[in-house]
Amino acid sequence: MVQKIWGGRFQKDMDEIVERFNASIRFDYRLYAQDIEGSMAHCRMLAKQKIISHEEASRIVDALAEIKREMERDESSFEEGHEDIHTLVEKALVEKIGTLGEKLHTGRSRNDQVSLDVRMYVRKATGRVLDLIKEMQESLINLAEKNMGLMLPGYTHLQRAQPVLLAHHLLAYFEMTKRDRQRFRENLKRVNILPLGSAALAGSTFNLDREMVAKELGFDAISDNSMDAVSDRDFVLEFLFSSSVLMMHLSRLSEELVIWSSQEFGFIDLPDAFCTGSSIMPQKKNPDLLELIRGKTGRVYGHLMAFLTTMKGLPLTYNKDMQEDKEALFDTFDTIEDCLVVITRLIKEISFNGETMKRATEEGYLVATDLADYLVMKDVTFRQAHETVGKIILFAINQKKELHQLTLKEMKSFSRQIDKDVYEWLEPAMCIKRRNSPGGTGPEMVKKSLQKAKKEIAF
Ligand code: ARG
Repeated sequence: MVQKIWGGRFQKDMDEIVERFNASIRFDYRLYAQDIEGSMAHCRMLAKQKIISHEEASRIVDALAEIKREMERDESSFEEGHEDIHTLVEKALVEKIGTLGEKLHTGRSRNDQVSLDVRMYVRKATGRVLDLIKEMQESLINLAEKNMGLMLPGYTHLQRAQPVLLAHHLLAYFEMTKRDRQRFRENLKRVNILPLGSAALAGSTFNLDREMVAKELGFDAISDNSMDAVSDRDFVLEFLFSSSVLMMHLSRLSEELVIWSSQEFGFIDLPDAFCTGSSIMPQKKNPDLLELIRGKTGRVYGHLMAFLTTMKGLPLTYNKDMQEDKEALFDTFDTIEDCLVVITRLIKEISFNGETMKRATEEGYLVATDLADYLVMKDVTFRQAHETVGKIILFAINQKKELHQLTLKEMKSFSRQIDKDVYEWLEPAMCIKRRNSPGGTGPEMVKKSLQKAKKEIAF
């Protein structure tokens, strides 16, 4: 059993099961780089403030650098029996330079230390997520541009509603992920506040230079209240929340791709490499990866709900409950990282069946709104037009015909205002073309949106 850094007032060793239950090293080992970088900055500051000597500080910093290199070499292994990453690094330091290593913790507590480490981790994880979302957006934009000529039904209630450009549909996901990126980026403002120097909860008796540490570690400001600083995990929750919304978007996209790849729709062919077969049905090609992305959304939501619940009702300040932040955070990051990588690769390889999609816009009276608009243009009120078109649709359904298959005579029997120009008017491509209101599916607008999207991801 490794000796406890806090063992002084204890007379008995910890029970083995208690020790394992209490320990976080199994998962917080991942914070080693942040922990060591934070310790180096703290140590340099202690020297500058003459709390320890410069000679002592440089020996500590050199030893920490060595420990970091050793840990980098073998990221997956760590010594069993330690309580957490903070005690592990301190023990390693003392092993290297003797009791001098024990001076590092002057003016510091694990409470402000762990908050610092997690903040630095979230900062780095957020950077990676921002890059990955951007890569996904790039592949969405490319896919939209490559298929600029294709159209498909737009749906409400999963019922065919009006024809839209495929590019318009794909760019809807650009907008969602644009907001995701904004959210993650905005969170950084609250992540990037230095808690170190709050010590256990009440601040330190040493003359610490917190601004110096903040500057060295790239923090925008120092925390204003030591009690809040050591007990705040809002920034973890915000990461979990932003990840949940991101996953909700990925899940919706995945679901649409699953539907589009079904034989009933047949809009897309999924690349073989992203599907699996069945152990019994030889014909099957299943969209498992998309289903997994959809499924993993539940697990990310779960982490958010679990950790929100953990934090609820905790009295100030630090409580061990808060150690639960890490597994939620790490698993969420791993999950969204994997999902973003997979979906981006998949988007790059989707191929569309333009003919099938186009045919779907021609069946199911998707242009009914346009016929009503046509009548309005000929000076019928919209309500009257809606009523008339409803009757025409009912007639067409009974005749088993689409609107463009009705004769002019048949249409005229419902409204004298209908002329032969109605046939061109009702072509799905024309219906799309006319929807040139800002943000609409008209090709002019969609091209503009594409250009705007490209500009947005350029920086
Ligand atoms: N492993 C702990 C955590 O993750 C570190 C902080 C421990 N502080 C304490 N006072 N027990 O929360």
